[in-house]
Amino acid sequence: MDKNFFITTPIYYPSGKPHMGHAYSSIIADFFARFKKIDGFDVLFLTGTDEHGLKIQRAAEKEGVKPQTLCDQISETFRDLSKILNLSNNDFIRTTEIRHKKSVQYLWNELVKNDEIYLSKYSGWYSVSDEAFYNEDEIEEVDGKKIAISSKSPVEWIEEESYFFKLSKWEKPLLDYYENNPDFISPGSRKNEVISFVKSGLKDLSVSRKTFSWGIPVPNNQSHVIYVWLDALTNYLSALNYPNTKNDLFKKFWPASLHLIGKDILRFHAVYWPAFLLASKIELPNKVFGHGWILSGEEKMSKSKGNILDPIEIIKEYGLDPLRYYLIKEVSFGNDGNISQERLENCINSDLANNYGNLCQRVTAFTNKNCDGKIPLEIKFQEDDLLILNKYKDNLDKIRSKIDDQNINFYIDYIVNSLFEANKYFNDQEPWKQKGNKIRLNTIVYTTLEIVRKISFLLYPIIPESALKALKIFNIDENDVKLNTISNNEYLTKGNNLNKIDILFKKKDKNND
Ligand code: MSP
Repeated sequence: MDKNFFITTPIYYPSGKPHMGHAYSSIIADFFARFKKIDGFDVLFLTGTDEHGLKIQRAAEKEGVKPQTLCDQISETFRDLSKILNLSNNDFIRTTEIRHKKSVQYLWNELVKNDEIYLSKYSGWYSVSDEAFYNEDEIEEVDGKKIAISSKSPVEWIEEESYFFKLSKWEKPLLDYYENNPDFISPGSRKNEVISFVKSGLKDLSVSRKTFSWGIPVPNNQSHVIYVWLDALTNYLSALNYPNTKNDLFKKFWPASLHLIGKDILRFHAVYWPAFLLASKIELPNKVFGHGWILSGEEKMSKSKGNILDPIEIIKEYGLDPLRYYLIKEVSFGNDGNISQERLENCINSDLANNYGNLCQRVTAFTNKNCDGKIPLEIKFQEDDLLILNKYKDNLDKIRSKIDDQNINFYIDYIVNSLFEANKYFNDQEPWKQKGNKIRLNTIVYTTLEIVRKISFLLYPIIPESALKALKIFNIDENDVKLNTISNNEYLTKGNNLNKIDILFKKKDKNND
């Protein structure tokens, strides 16, 4: 079985500072990366910044700096954010890096060699904010201004000499590909949108611009720069050292397992990207998942709308893991969602502090008092104990397959139910009434500690720092977190001392704030 997993986030425009929408894509990708890692996969997790194009050039002009200076500054804030979010990415790519430019120009030449590109003239609507071309039927007029219907971004008319990619000829092969690979575009509702877009007829795509210079020059015609989306999408290959397809990275990790993106950029990933790859005879990625938006009120959060939420502010106030937990649990994956202070505080108080934190505290305090602070030596499982313990083993394959379907909602529900069940088990078993029956008391304690371990392993991809803090009780560190061990009901070494546990989550007391 292929135990390699290559996951990507979109690469972010460094035209403004990172916001909650960017943090969302990255946190979700990190969740999958960490899950696969503890499930024994060799994981490559890629993120980065998309630095060319008119949008960036104009942002730099507005700031009165060179585009490269702006990119250097803002790209750094995205890199910082990836650390603040505790992302486990192995690479951070910038499209202004030489390794990337070389790949893009090589890919361009491949397209030329395969007779996929021709020179002509473009005239039509263009949105700089989306870096996208729009057909007449995709725009509308509001207050005398033309805007794109889907994104509401202003569009401008452009007319210039341009190279075109023969997208139209890939209409049928793309439709065949979607049909033969039903999981390629997810979720299903979005797949239908893409299919109807392709069925409505694909026009050749303008893939170079001549009226500005901030981009990768077209080889052999330096008066053109390569269209920023052809440039940006290629990052997924350039990070693997394309065109050197014989190197280990490429051999191991291409085709990508999962391109995780926002629904706003599905067309680029599910239509243009596979068409570019088909035309250059490169294998297609396994899956593109378009997640929903983080809304501010009813609208998509974005810099141009001036309604952004700063993830760093929220992290300062509530901590990183509560934010990660909130985004994963409270934004139904695939749909839009928003940040509500009340629901965030609820997550902290009820799920994290009461259900998880309290379980850890209670069982360790009880062990300290009644088992000399050691993992009990003598135990004898009864039916009740095995019933709750074996569930983890019995559900492991189901959990794996739900994750392969990106069913995060199942995963988090499973954890919430398990926490509830674990607390109930400890209450119902009443170990404090078993002081005369040492073996029974030991067994209840051991079972509960085992459950704390198993749940902490499952929580690790969501709240890595807190889960590891809890696992310190057992001296378990990050390298020991292996998913398949949750099938083992006697993983914890009997007789070992428990370490002291730090408070995992501080409750948010509304009256004290
Ligand atoms: N640079 C392109 C992507 C190129 S990928 C080859 C781009 N950049 S972006 O910075 O505008 O947005 C990148 C991604 O951030 C979006 O696709 C989406 O995944 C995420 N989000 C941006 N705003 C968002 C929300 N308000 N909500 C959720 N995610 C959103 O597009």
